[in-house]
Amino acid sequence: MTKFQQFDPNKLELRERHQLLLSSVAPRPIGFTGSKSKDGHINLAPFSYHNAFSSNPPMVGISPAFSGRTGKTKNTLTNILDTKEFTLSVVTHDMVEQMNICAAEYPKEVDEFEKSGLTKYPCKIVSTPGVEESPLIMECKFTQHIQFSDKPAGGNLLLGEIVYFHAKKDIINDSGKIDPIKVDQVARMGFNWYTRANQGLFELPAPRTCPIGIDTLSDSIKRNPLFSGKLLARLASVETIPEPTLLKKSSHKYSDFTNEELLQACAKLLETNNIKDAWQIVHIFLSRVDN
Ligand SMILES: Cc1cc2nc3c(=O)[nH]c(=O)nc-3n(C[C@H](O)[C@H](O)[C@H](O)COP(=O)(O)O)c2cc1C
Repeated sequence: MTKFQQFDPNKLELRERHQLLLSSVAPRPIGFTGSKSKDGHINLAPFSYHNAFSSNPPMVGISPAFSGRTGKTKNTLTNILDTKEFTLSVVTHDMVEQMNICAAEYPKEVDEFEKSGLTKYPCKIVSTPGVEESPLIMECKFTQHIQFSDKPAGGNLLLGEIVYFHAKKDIINDSGKIDPIKVDQVARMGFNWYTRANQGLFELPAPRTCPIGIDTLSDSIKRNPLFSGKLLARLASVETIPEPTLLKKSSHKYSDFTNEELLQACAKLLETNNIKDAWQIVHIFLSRVDN
């Protein structure tokens, strides 16, 4: 019996498929998109089908879909295809309710900056404004359009190169880095849910070298229920297995531990990220079970 409820997207109603996707790919950053029509009307709308795709050149994308209800083209899509430029402003927790006003389907002449009370920030290269209340604004030049279908809710991936960044000075910390706590970004989940990034921040440095990997750990450790995937990943994150220094001592603090107590102590050390000492216990344990 599978633990999973299974769905064939082709057999789902559009609404169900949409929500399944939104819950599965989450949280999604919100590209708060400023655009301008060919006759000069300014538009502002949020898009959570949004991400960065390249650093060299710096590329971003948003995907305005044809309306799921009416099949109508969104103003943002028409504007960007016509004028080949747009801005993206990061949405913070303070701005989220004003952002929500901009998600209403106003006629194309309506300026959502005015509806939402948000302030236009004049850009340096593009003629479309960013949102001054936002701590991070990107000026973008349109590069590519991929239309996935012409049906209601069919997406249109619009890619653009960032030609200028603006970062508010008060989000930059003393070492010159952008402080995610100060940015206070929000992201979209499924249904009506959002997440506030700085309420759940944690750091996890990417591996600089190749970790030894969980596959190289002894089965007696890997199969022991004391070690979750997370703890095994910590043990396996080393580039080389640390030398067994404790094992060489005739007596040490683990001498009287049973095998089970050894593994419990090892798991406890891994919980606090003390990987070096955890490996010493692994050596002691393996020297006993291997003999
Ligand atoms: C947080 C948020 C994210 C949204 N993401 C998208 C999206 O990725 N694609 C889309 O087509 N509509 C999305 N919408 C709906 C559009 O913002 C909405 O249709 C808007 O009226 C489009 O404005 P426009 O016609 O002026 O371009 C989102 C709405 C909200 C509130």
